[in-house]
Amino acid sequence: MKTLLSTYEKLNLRNRVVMAPMTRSRATKDHAPTDIMATYYAQRAKAGLIITEGTSPSANGVGYSRIPGIYTDEQAKAWETVANEVHKKGGKIFMQLMHTGRLAHPDNMPKDSRILAPSPIAPPETKMYVDDKGMVAIPIPQEMTLEDINQEIGTFVSSAKRAIEAGFDGVELHGANGYLIESFISPHTNKRKDFYGGSIENRLRLPLAIVKKVAEAVGPDKVGLRISPNGTLGDMKPFEGQMETYSHFIEKLNELNIAYIHLLDLESFGQTAVPPEIRTMVRNKFQGTLILSGGYDQYSGEEALKNNEGDLIAYGRPFIANPDLIERWKNDIPLANANGDLFYTPGPEGYIDYLGS
Ligand SMILES: Cc1cc2nc3c(=O)[nH]c(=O)nc-3n(C[C@H](O)[C@H](O)[C@H](O)COP(=O)(O)O)c2cc1C
Repeated sequence: MKTLLSTYEKLNLRNRVVMAPMTRSRATKDHAPTDIMATYYAQRAKAGLIITEGTSPSANGVGYSRIPGIYTDEQAKAWETVANEVHKKGGKIFMQLMHTGRLAHPDNMPKDSRILAPSPIAPPETKMYVDDKGMVAIPIPQEMTLEDINQEIGTFVSSAKRAIEAGFDGVELHGANGYLIESFISPHTNKRKDFYGGSIENRLRLPLAIVKKVAEAVGPDKVGLRISPNGTLGDMKPFEGQMETYSHFIEKLNELNIAYIHLLDLESFGQTAVPPEIRTMVRNKFQGTLILSGGYDQYSGEEALKNNEGDLIAYGRPFIANPDLIERWKNDIPLANANGDLFYTPGPEGYIDYLGS
């Protein structure tokens, strides 16, 4: 049997193919999940593990139009249907908790919400899509007070609990791509002078507090963390001391015993790659499961598993047009191509109308 399609006992998965988290913007304008989202995830339930699109734990973290949240009980209720439909098909599903931080536009967010970041620095190049306006500049975020920091950490905890109560098998904390958690890690976006900025320990204080408190609330076996060292999405930049920073991060994460790290490399999107020495360090140092993502096909995924570079491979784009990806690989059926124009548009088209082979 091919390795990708073999079981992974440690997390009780029926194969080693993970559906990567993908924002598809099919929630309501008020950021509530919709019925078509349940259909979409259920169609893809044969993945060993589904990780949902980025879902905001806070009204302050819902920076894109029509992305879902889980910061209200009503949103959590709507998510129950998603978890149920996936479970009915024998699938497993984690929810990705994504607080967009400084990558946000007020027109996409509820009234009275605020754009928050470690320091008041707007992403200089990145523009953001707003319904009816198109691509617009991103305003300068507010520098978080200590009260803000405690409050937003609290939203991760309450949302993780809601997700588990709604039936999810776990949560993935989004520590990649320039969102709130990563913006604390990088000295380019975190210029704080208090104990949340400056030294490695200080820059990792908020990320580690979130992981620790969420793990305490729902159990470490139900928590994963996504990272993208050296990434450049959302106007992030490589920084000096990355190796030391991430190495320290991994040591501390080992103490917390979380289920997995999800290492994202966006070189296939034209961004900078994760340096090989950081990949190797993460693999050798981290004691839990390692998921790899970014530009894999069936062949390169098999190779990465054979070479023991990771334990599971996450696929994003291939799952969009191939809900039956596992069946196609099992039976050597060629893959369908997705229509990129419909990645983030509202409604069922280009979303739940890719049928099986
Ligand atoms: C339409 C789209 C939306 C995405 N949204 C998210 C997201 O919400 N959270 C996240 O961590 N990554 C997101 N990603 C990145 C994917 O999870 C994945 O890592 C990336 O697409 C690389 O994998 P691939 O080459 O198999 O597509 C997104 C990618 C795509 C194509």
